[in-house]
Amino acid sequence: MDRTYRPKYHFQPERNWINDPNGLIQWNGRYHLFYQHNPFGALWGNIHWGHAVSDDLLHWEHLPLALAPAVGDYDEFGCFSGCLVDNDGVPMIIYTGTQAAPRGGMPYTQHANLAFGSADLTKWEKFAGNPVIHAPLDDELTGFRDHCVWREGDEWLQIIGSGRRGKGGVAFLYRSDDLLTWEYLHPLCELDTPTFDGVGVGEMWECPQLLDLGAKHALVLSASYNDTPTRTVCLLGRYENRRFEPTGAQVLDFGEASSYAPQAMRDDKGRTLMWGWIPEGRDDALCEVAGWSGMLSLPRVVTLRDNGRLGFAPVPELQKLRGQHHRQPSAIQSDSLEICAMFKPTERVEIGVRCSADERARIFYDPQTATLGIDRSHSRPADCEHDLSTLSGNYPLPADGLLTFHIFVDNSVIEVFANGEAVVTGRVYPSENGLGVVVSGGELCRFDAWELRGIW
Ligand code: FRU
Repeated sequence: MDRTYRPKYHFQPERNWINDPNGLIQWNGRYHLFYQHNPFGALWGNIHWGHAVSDDLLHWEHLPLALAPAVGDYDEFGCFSGCLVDNDGVPMIIYTGTQAAPRGGMPYTQHANLAFGSADLTKWEKFAGNPVIHAPLDDELTGFRDHCVWREGDEWLQIIGSGRRGKGGVAFLYRSDDLLTWEYLHPLCELDTPTFDGVGVGEMWECPQLLDLGAKHALVLSASYNDTPTRTVCLLGRYENRRFEPTGAQVLDFGEASSYAPQAMRDDKGRTLMWGWIPEGRDDALCEVAGWSGMLSLPRVVTLRDNGRLGFAPVPELQKLRGQHHRQPSAIQSDSLEICAMFKPTERVEIGVRCSADERARIFYDPQTATLGIDRSHSRPADCEHDLSTLSGNYPLPADGLLTFHIFVDNSVIEVFANGEAVVTGRVYPSENGLGVVVSGGELCRFDAWELRGIW
């Protein structure tokens, strides 16, 4: 396996392909993480559920595969995304079983399936009565997959992601008494257009999840257009009488599809923790040569901010990875870093990371245009095949005019948190071994950086 661009403190399987986080749950105090995984190669396909467990959200132990596609069965083309619930002590997975035959207007047949887990979550038995929900036979639908299941009073409720061709996304709502038999109710939420509140929210909603954040609910969506993952967004609004009425929309990561298909869980500290999938930005042939592809984001604590928007912060547990402390950027030579920097951005401010003589990735904020982003145009020579586009979004500063960057660099991945409110994730593949950090512009009020230890 080629480790040249492999991160050291982000979650990954030991080798091969990973996409969405699935079935996140704290079970007997331990954090369990399942994920979309091809155990046989570094490209998407033959999708199983991988499994890992952690006591501290940092160090993970790989466990045996949880679900595998079964030839001739409802999931023969793949065990797609889903969730895990605690049914009075019995762990149950609800996932999408996929078959390679068209159904309705969809290129694949996708149904809701169940699996029962052993008490330690390591052994899974598929329900003999699968599938528990058949995809509707509707030519207009663009997909029918991914599951969010929750308990409300004496009932179970479930949403499944979909969309109507040429219109917008739909989250279909079902109810059940026992998780085995489901009754269709109505769309929890449905849009006639792929845009809401000025934000492109997709023609098809992958991985929908309804989050209860107290004063508001958020419907987290992975917005896909024409089967292309595009960005992670949420609709903010009110959930009442089993319908979700959106009043606003928010882009959850300015890195567009650099962080996709997130799933969140509530832990025993009452925190809402979210992980997303960070895919590769290099082409398939290079992934196959490397022998691995993709990772999960760092766990992010999600909160509802006073301004009515979702806020994101890296889990504080990450501080346990801190090693050598630097107070001057010029002293740093590392590609495994946490950087905290506070600015008065009187002009464009920039933090260059992975800097060598000719290359650098530029994390920037431009107060003129209120733009936050990662400029990758110099992260590698311009004639390369990699995507060097700038990843950015509109982020107006709060009233105090201050900007606090919290940045994580882990070899080829950069995660930027700005004021705990906006996030940009991006991949860079420097051709030189750039390890320097450079800060410029505005008034730098505070700078701290730590070299971070690996987790494996
Ligand atoms: C999102 C997604 C899901 C699907 C899974 C398949 O990345 O396309 O909609 O269940 O990945 O691996």
